Amino acid sequence: MKLALIGFGTVGRGAYDILKDRQELFEKTVGPMEIAYVVASDRSRNTLELEIDEPVVTAKEYDKVLEEVDCVAEATGAMDMAYEYMRRALEKGVGVVTANKACVSAHYEELVALSEKTGAPFLFEAAVAGGIPVLTPLRALCLQNEIEDVKGILNGTCNYLLNAMFKEGADYKDTLALCQKLGYAEQDPTDDVEGYDTRRKLHLLIEMAFGHVDGDAIPTRGIAQIDQSVVAYLKSQNKKVKLVASAKPAEGGIEAVVEPVIFDGGHSLAILPDAINQVNVKGSWVGDLAFTGPGAGKEPTGNAVVADLVAAATKSAMPLLKRGDVKLAPIRGRYFVAKELEGDFVDRVEEGFTYTKDMAREELLKALDEKTFFARLED
Ligand code: HSE
Repeated sequence: MKLALIGFGTVGRGAYDILKDRQELFEKTVGPMEIAYVVASDRSRNTLELEIDEPVVTAKEYDKVLEEVDCVAEATGAMDMAYEYMRRALEKGVGVVTANKACVSAHYEELVALSEKTGAPFLFEAAVAGGIPVLTPLRALCLQNEIEDVKGILNGTCNYLLNAMFKEGADYKDTLALCQKLGYAEQDPTDDVEGYDTRRKLHLLIEMAFGHVDGDAIPTRGIAQIDQSVVAYLKSQNKKVKLVASAKPAEGGIEAVVEPVIFDGGHSLAILPDAINQVNVKGSWVGDLAFTGPGAGKEPTGNAVVADLVAAATKSAMPLLKRGDVKLAPIRGRYFVAKELEGDFVDRVEEGFTYTKDMAREELLKALDEKTFFARLED
């Protein structure tokens, strides 16, 4: 297979290194995986040409690239430009592999429809939970099972940050800067800590497992409001906080939410170290499954890109199910709020922190401002 790598940042480089390292083995097994072009920005073209042997081109030459390759691996992290790269490839019947969760989430229906129309593979394993093979098995699972529950930790940066704060009392800002240095965080880390990155990934899981929803409408709260006083109090109670994404069928649609959850003890999501992610999936026939592994970083995410390229080369990808629209159902829960509140919904107040009774999430939001940390208590 002839391919083009678009973008040569963290993920692009990871995929490139693996493709080069496994070149001979691929040739003997799945056939040659030839990097025919690397598509770079005008700014980085010259320096990249000095660094790698493959032809480096820019967007201006993309038509020529599409004439010659079977598949493109898009790893730009961009939005409009990435969409154009993907749309044009799929329209032409050229396969697309991408790590770009923001772009796939924003254009999911259109890109999937294009792939169905032209028969070109559209694969985005690297877009959800970094290095964990979860979308590939989920495609197959969806054919055989009704999916009854999806729950997980989908952002490596938040997991790393919360672990460091709870274990070592680390400083929020310093640790976030470290996550950027380690290649975990998004270009704008607000996307990580406000939960938007998690929301995009949950959106893709929902599209695959349940049906079409407006991804931006999934209720989302991140961890940006957490501070040392909350951490110290919860630690004294032997509790932990994780940013959790969950979705399950409910009356009137799908209950889907991204928010911090307080766990006590050894729940499998509570004990995930470093930037590890986990996706728990319940299927009607198979039962409970857990997919665990590195959720971010150059090599793991590059590995997921290469896995999709191999699937494209071997034409072994499972189809995506066509599904209709589903509604987002209202969310209820018991909550911890980092502030003293009054009202019928209050169960108790301890050391200035409020525990609520089971209540509608919407009602809680009315009683809060944007700056107050809150978290759902584990069911
Ligand atoms: N910023 C993302 C994370 C990268 O921290 O999980 C992987 O999608």
